[in-house]
Amino acid sequence: MKAVREQVQLGGGEKRIEQQHEKGKLTARERLQLFLDPASFVEHQTYSRGRATMFGMADKRQPGDGVVTGSGLVDGRQIFLSSQDFTVLGGSLGEMHADRIAEAQELSIKTGTPFVQINDSGGARIQEGILSLHGYARIFRANTLASGVVPQLSVILGPCAGGAVYSPGITDFVFMVDNVSNMYITGPDVIRAVTGEDISHEELGGAHAHAAKSGNAHFRFATEQDCLAGVRRLLSYLPSSNREQPPRVDNGDPEDRTTPELMELVPEEERRGYDVRDVIASVFDRDSFMEVHQDYAKNVVVGFARLGGRTVGIFGNQPKVMAAALDINSSDKGARFIRFCDAFNIPIISLVDVPGFLPGVNQEHGGIIRHGAKVLYAIAEATVPKISLIMRKAYGGAYIAMAAKGLGYDRVLAWPFSQIAVMGAEGAANIIFRRDIADAADPAAARDEKIREFKEEVMDPFVAAGYGYVDDVIDPAHTRSELIRSLEMMVRKQETIPARKHGNIPL
Ligand code: HXC
Repeated sequence: MKAVREQVQLGGGEKRIEQQHEKGKLTARERLQLFLDPASFVEHQTYSRGRATMFGMADKRQPGDGVVTGSGLVDGRQIFLSSQDFTVLGGSLGEMHADRIAEAQELSIKTGTPFVQINDSGGARIQEGILSLHGYARIFRANTLASGVVPQLSVILGPCAGGAVYSPGITDFVFMVDNVSNMYITGPDVIRAVTGEDISHEELGGAHAHAAKSGNAHFRFATEQDCLAGVRRLLSYLPSSNREQPPRVDNGDPEDRTTPELMELVPEEERRGYDVRDVIASVFDRDSFMEVHQDYAKNVVVGFARLGGRTVGIFGNQPKVMAAALDINSSDKGARFIRFCDAFNIPIISLVDVPGFLPGVNQEHGGIIRHGAKVLYAIAEATVPKISLIMRKAYGGAYIAMAAKGLGYDRVLAWPFSQIAVMGAEGAANIIFRRDIADAADPAAARDEKIREFKEEVMDPFVAAGYGYVDDVIDPAHTRSELIRSLEMMVRKQETIPARKHGNIPL
């Protein structure tokens, strides 16, 4: 028995393990050791082996059928996981390989614990044909049924090609490592043959390409070790399933800590940029922010943080990039993040400083209407607590997305110099006061006067507060304590939306 177990643990054998190390990669089992709490891994279906015999398969060494699956602990909390073993038939996915992954997925759903998959595979096992394709189909379906029930994280630590990419594509978060991970539906050779384009594996489907260009990767790391530590960190913010609340982690940052530095960080002059991440660092629990999609659609910043020890999802405008205008990609990024938070009982905090949706032919023809609508839909549908802080500008449709009580925000706070309107004062003056300005003896002075009047009478946050659409105008120095108070007030929120099979979010 011991001998069989030892043989299984050697995967494809010492030579293949050596080759894996020579590529700068860890093996499937080394990854599990590194990732899980010590001695917590319990393997399932340990002795699985493929039953295919065609094309010389009977003579090939196939322990575990190229994947290791089971359960383990992360910070004492159970998860289910799979780790593909490239040393066995290139980690390719055959019948039993798929069966093992699908069983781990099913157990994760039944037990209400997260599913983590580590991918390192040549894709569908070519010799097994339909058995392999059927296996992928099972996995995709299980991914889909688990969506919104348990968190699903994909860690790409090797090739992930062809249809195999669609399992990570369905899951909640994708992690990649520079010069280790590759994802594409067809590789450089096929692309060269079909379109004539010449590109390397890394440029086409490496971590940078997916983190910064396609948006398929949410996290990018320099090493496998850092990556696996990142997966552990992300799990620390999340509940095990949609039936639970996220864990509470108090790091001792005082709830009544004042934030006077915000007056310096956010310039009152509305055209000046700043980094909203400085605001986040000041307001939320010390060092608690974990940014998601850091390199993609940087005009919004999303991520998890803690406020008074409670996990929250931050949906923030980033005035440093494109003046924070919302475009197609940032709408997709924001909407998907909001829906994850809502599915897993994570309150949403919007940090608002936005001039509107981005104008442009490319944006219009690229479908900004459909993509922007996703944000409105995601916020309107979310039943978790939704709190908004208007820091400076909140204009037009982007105001609605970020801060409108009419859309379902539960509590809206504003800083005294914030401006809420259909559009900025200059644009408004040019439209509604055009004739007054043109007829004035001194048009420039008349224009300045109209702009001042518009700011005072329309844009001032006390105007919105007068209608009840801003709950309070707060001193920036008290932002942290006011947000914590708002969150505490709302954590017991329960809301139901009309029964339906599912909505039809504009995809
Ligand atoms: C069977 C495979 C395999 C596969 C690799 N191997 N991929 N066996 N099916 N898909 C085997 C190799 O034959 C080799 O076995 C061993 O694994 C190691 O592979 P190498 O090629 O030596 O490794 P390396 O040089 O590192 O190259 C890795 C690779 C390459 C880039 C992943 O193996 C590759 O291109 N594989 C094919 C990828 C692919 O086209 N997959 C199908 C995608 S379509 P031996 O015994 O000779 O050492 C797809 C459709 C899914 O997945 C649809 C689902 C809906």
